[in-house]
Amino acid sequence: MLRPKKEKTKKVKLTKESIQKAKGLLAYLKPYRGAYFIGWLFLVLSTSAGLIFPFLMGQLLGGGSTENPVSMSDSVQLINLKNINNVAVILFILFGVQSVFSYFRVVIFTNVTENALRDIRKAAFDRLIFMPMDFFNKSKVGELTSRLSSDIAQVQETMRTTIAEFFRQIVIVIGGIAFLVFLSWKLALIMLATVPVMAIIAVVFGRFIRKLSKKAQDQAAASNSIIEESLMGISNVKSFTNEYFILGKYSKAIEEIRSLNIKSGVWRGLFVSFIIFCLFGAIVFIVWQGLLMTQGPNPTLSSQEFFSFIMYTVMMGASIGSLPDLYASIQKTIGATENLMDIINTPGEKQLLTGRLKPEIHGNIAFENVRFTYPQREDISVLNGISFAAKSNETIALVGASGSGKSTITSLLLNYYTVKSGRVLFDGVDVKDIEIDYLRSNMAMVPQEVILFAGTIRENISFGKTTASEQEIIEAAEKANAWEFISSFPEGLATQVGDRGIQLSGGQKQRIAIARAIIKNPSILILDEATSALDSESERLVQDALNKLMLGRTSFVIAHRLSTIKNADKILVIQHGTIIETGTHDELIQKSGVYSNLVELQGIELN
Ligand SMILES: Nc1ncnc2c1ncn2[C@@H]1O[C@H](COP(=O)(O)OP(=O)(O)O)[C@@H](O)[C@H]1O
Ligand SMILES: [Mg+2]
Repeated sequence: MLRPKKEKTKKVKLTKESIQKAKGLLAYLKPYRGAYFIGWLFLVLSTSAGLIFPFLMGQLLGGGSTENPVSMSDSVQLINLKNINNVAVILFILFGVQSVFSYFRVVIFTNVTENALRDIRKAAFDRLIFMPMDFFNKSKVGELTSRLSSDIAQVQETMRTTIAEFFRQIVIVIGGIAFLVFLSWKLALIMLATVPVMAIIAVVFGRFIRKLSKKAQDQAAASNSIIEESLMGISNVKSFTNEYFILGKYSKAIEEIRSLNIKSGVWRGLFVSFIIFCLFGAIVFIVWQGLLMTQGPNPTLSSQEFFSFIMYTVMMGASIGSLPDLYASIQKTIGATENLMDIINTPGEKQLLTGRLKPEIHGNIAFENVRFTYPQREDISVLNGISFAAKSNETIALVGASGSGKSTITSLLLNYYTVKSGRVLFDGVDVKDIEIDYLRSNMAMVPQEVILFAGTIRENISFGKTTASEQEIIEAAEKANAWEFISSFPEGLATQVGDRGIQLSGGQKQRIAIARAIIKNPSILILDEATSALDSESERLVQDALNKLMLGRTSFVIAHRLSTIKNADKILVIQHGTIIETGTHDELIQKSGVYSNLVELQGIELN
């Protein structure tokens, strides 16, 4: 089975336009803005509390010695920081406060995110399920769903943690700088000129190396596919005596891998020595400069301050280093949001189909010179002026080769698509003026391939009428010749088709679909090759059920067996989107045209 390729969410440049689009998603946070605001408050509080930590740790590590005459701000002196015990107690209180704040921050952010995501998921599926049919032709459903779930996961991660983390790190960087300047502006200047620069170089450097090894990996995959292809097609290789040719190709590919990896090895070596020499060198340089300031007859820095300074520096370095990845993740999220908003902003059938009439529909249907092309293939004309009329309770058989346009006609009945020209009339009212849900509530379709939904047989039958009573369901199942096999299951109607679905035969599924149609009690029925995939025994049962179903309704039957078509009130013989013959079976046989030919040829196997 072909699995849909999982489309990765792309990073996007943060432009005004992309941010504008992503802003649409903020609307989903709006109902929870109160809680969200409190979450942010806790974030600010816990981050601020965290910023005091290096300062106090400096006091602790600096020994709280009494010798140091260097000035401290008054407020700091107030709490008698010289006492180690006091500092330790304050640190514990600080951590206690911070852990409470952080707890509420995480819980609140998760709450807001999950609430908003539920709304976003619902909105996205709401849009999807109401999309016009044309949308599903254009988009591959598998790709669409995997894309949707990965986009939502990306948004979830960002709303829950990334944004908060990004903000937290920025606060740490800014707050850290403020503390550093406060401790010693001179040393702060020296530090800022070195550590952040080194941290950023290290990150960029690291990325460059990652890119190089990614290249080597891709190349390795390419070389593996040479092996795979040639071994799978070994007979091609041998019969053309191309072994040496393939070997040459492979040698070239692996040579490429070798040189790429060696190149990246050189860079990795440089990276390691860079880290050792420059980054640690920078730190040593600052420590050295700082120590100088604490020495001498006129020290400008106390040892507590010096320790605090080092701790702020380390904290800031880590924060700066984490920013690029966080930023990249936010960029990705903007991309994901754009995709989501594209779906949410696409107009659905509700917006596109503006008919509001609800006329009585008795099943009198007319096509008037209908021309149609599929929206994504405007150049290919599928229906070229189809005209016919079906009276209430008639059975209309559509006959024609595969691809002649039979299913398309039934799609137009359901108003899946809009005609290019001409009209489709239901009891004299143009389909485009009829309210779409109302129109479809008057129709039922039994397709060739029945899809049962995970759930019980009962649920699958009442899919046709969600309010149906047990009695109605059983009656429908009986009329559909389905009751016999349903009641033979130990759990009867409560049998899960999810795990039994595989055990249900095509004919049984078909009869459940018929029961579904019976319970809907529509005035118009569409049977699209409903019996074509069945063996003759189940076909008899299904056909018998269909005959009962068709009683008292206007039925459109696409079938390939003569027995089904023979009894139709009207047969439309369709060729290349045109009706070339029309009449009853007897009339058409008399005519000895295309239809009689078909019947003569194979007792009709038109598809
Ligand atoms: N969703 C679609 N998008 C584009 N072209 C389509 C689509 N469905 C059918 N067609 C084309 O329309 C023509 C009629 O198809 P269809 O009505 O399914 O024929 P039939 O049911 O008689 O076999 C065919 O040429 C087919 O390729
Ligand atoms: Mg078809």
